[in-house]
Amino acid sequence: MKTIRTLGLLGTGVIGGGWAARALHAGFDVVAADLNPAMEDWLRGAVETAAPALGRLTEGMALPPPGRLSFTTDPAEMAVAADAIQENVPEVMDVKRAALSRVADVAGEDVLILSSTSGFMPSDLQAGLAHPERVLVGHPFNPVYLCPLVEVVAGKATAETAVAHASDFYRAMGMEVLRVRKEVPGHLSDRLQEAMWREILHSLNDDIATTGELDASIVYGPGLRWAFMGMNQIYMIAGGEGGARHFMEQFGPCLDEPWSYLKAPDLSPEIIDRFVEGTAAQAGGKSVRDLEAIRDECLVAIQQVLARHDIGAGRTLNAWGRLLDAEAR
Ligand SMILES: NC(=O)c1ccc[n+]([C@@H]2O[C@H](COP(=O)([O-])OP(=O)(O)OC[C@H]3O[C@@H](n4cnc5c(N)ncnc54)[C@H](O)[C@@H]3O)[C@@H](O)[C@H]2O)c1
Repeated sequence: MKTIRTLGLLGTGVIGGGWAARALHAGFDVVAADLNPAMEDWLRGAVETAAPALGRLTEGMALPPPGRLSFTTDPAEMAVAADAIQENVPEVMDVKRAALSRVADVAGEDVLILSSTSGFMPSDLQAGLAHPERVLVGHPFNPVYLCPLVEVVAGKATAETAVAHASDFYRAMGMEVLRVRKEVPGHLSDRLQEAMWREILHSLNDDIATTGELDASIVYGPGLRWAFMGMNQIYMIAGGEGGARHFMEQFGPCLDEPWSYLKAPDLSPEIIDRFVEGTAAQAGGKSVRDLEAIRDECLVAIQQVLARHDIGAGRTLNAWGRLLDAEAR
């Protein structure tokens, strides 16, 4: 597969902007394509906004000089210039397939084509494309420039060499590659997040709690733990000396109790209003930009603490530092 020096981006909204910031900071050139010419200013602004937090996160690391950014409204122009393409167009199957087909027809056959899709399966995206063996899912998390996780999912036609090449590329940008063994709608993380979101919507619908109270039930408790240990490891510890087996014995029977609804409620106008008005009240007059800045400060600080303990995303940060040191030698 082609050595990656230039990353092509297809779609430069929230996620494309995040990929641009991360790739440029890691020293890759970026050629970004979006059908909407107004996205060029937005993208340059997004990269600029991300830079201070990225700088603090990677302080003291042996990063190469930042890459160069260019923008086009012509996806084909991007596809011929790119060594790998990351697709970030809206989550609509027909839109994605048309956009992917356009770039697959003109990109060299050794150019990786990666999709940021939150839930589509790679086999459905790659079917009928030119050289489907270089097509796979690389699902990131917002903000892409600070969250290291990328779920890597192969489709039926994907070559293992493409998976390996994509994984090396993501690691070179400081990411934590989670290989998803089996393609399923929603991959791994979004299935878990959606299960929780469904319960949130039920709680709003049944007037059990406000969005603020539901968020408090995460932030002051389980959320503090999730940054460094997942639910399974945490539950093992919660079993005390008896560990996971005791936990299963104690809480397993609760699964038969009506603690969760499983099926989503109808998205009535009332439920949508409760969600929108509740989160606006929580924001307390702060704009999305203000909230993003607070989020970024916290994400950097948490990862630096975790790095001191070499755990979770801090471990990924330390591994990136070692990789850069080895390359700088
Ligand atoms: N927002 C998130 O939190 C998040 C997280 C992980 C993955 N994703 C996934 O990333 C993808 C993009 O999501 P987003 O939130 O960045 O969307 P977005 O709406 O912010 O951006 C999409 C961009 O694609 C452009 N576009 C549309 N059709 C195009 C085409 N044919 N060619 C080129 N550009 C085109 C639009 O002009 C827009 O700028 C989706 O698949 C989504 O599921 C989103």
